[in-house]
Amino acid sequence: MMRDAELLTRVIAIDPRRPDPELVGIAAETIQTRGLAAFPTETVYGLGADGLNEEAVCRLYEVKQRPRSNPFILHTADATTALSLADTVPNAAEKLAQRFWPGPLTLVLERAPRVPAVTCGGGEKVAARVPDNTVARMLIELSDTPIAGPSANLSGSPSPVTARHVLADFEGRIEVVLDAGPCRLGLESTVLDLTEQPPRILRPGVITAGEISEVIGDAIEAAPQASESRYRPRARLVVVPAASSTTAAAVARGLAASGKRVGLAVSAEGADEDCCHVQRIWGRMTEPEAIAAQLYGALRELDDAGVDVIVAEGVVEDGIGASIMHRLRTAADAIVENAEMDTASE
Ligand code: TXA
Ligand code: MG
Repeated sequence: MMRDAELLTRVIAIDPRRPDPELVGIAAETIQTRGLAAFPTETVYGLGADGLNEEAVCRLYEVKQRPRSNPFILHTADATTALSLADTVPNAAEKLAQRFWPGPLTLVLERAPRVPAVTCGGGEKVAARVPDNTVARMLIELSDTPIAGPSANLSGSPSPVTARHVLADFEGRIEVVLDAGPCRLGLESTVLDLTEQPPRILRPGVITAGEISEVIGDAIEAAPQASESRYRPRARLVVVPAASSTTAAAVARGLAASGKRVGLAVSAEGADEDCCHVQRIWGRMTEPEAIAAQLYGALRELDDAGVDVIVAEGVVEDGIGASIMHRLRTAADAIVENAEMDTASE
């Protein structure tokens, strides 16, 4: 749209420890006047719009280039408001809210009539969460409305964990970015559907099925592998799981030998800078939380280095490691489970 192409995106630096309400208020005014403002959360940056305003929400689908059937999470400043977006509130929702909010858990519930269907992909379910981030909650309070907030990336791309990542996708297309530095967790929230029995994880995240079961005493159905490709860098992505019979460095070396420009995203333990053109160490194998925080930034950086292929070393698939691998497997063009290189070099 011409209107979007002509926007000047204002980047506002915010001190995450002591956010200035006047500065955050500029973004709140944008939300209140049906504009789009990107904001930090503890997981990734969100692209915010007034979640109760159909016009604002329609613009959000358009700018994010997201199909209108894919619903947005509504962000609120407190649990009471979050649960008021639901038609009925099951006991499990109360318990989970008390235990995990504010925090990286999104609850899917029956949609209350006051929430426009368009916000929820046209469906009868609403997704809500209370972010554990002072700037985000201040923005929501000052906007005085639940904020629809998908990750602030173009549909299909890696999520943004810095304001710079947001600008790479949306400069000139949105009014404001609140820049409060890198996100603490780096991986999107766990999405749990409580309208199903047993409750079902739609997207794994930092909070695990085990932690959820402990609180509600119910078995939890694990997330299916995503059916469509998401979180993808521009370069071809080859993932080498931790259980593979070969190493990421060996796969990278093979691809480099065949003439490809190769970027390697790897743990400190698996590092080998001679096997590739660019190497990005994203943390120690023993600290998957650190790797989660670096995941999307590393993919975006290697893309910016102009490589043809990114080889990503997998992590052990339990706890947060399972969520990291969910993202990598969803994004992958090829997964090398054993030493044969056929899939990787095709
Ligand atoms: O951590 C996060 O959740 C970040 C930050 C910004 O809060 N947000 C985020 O939003 O990741 P998004 O839109 O990129 O991903 C939300 C996921 C999508 O897969 C969407 O399909 C699912 O949650 N979802 C949202 N509303 C839903 C609903 N009503 N029913 C089922 N799934 C829903
Ligand atoms: Mg997303």
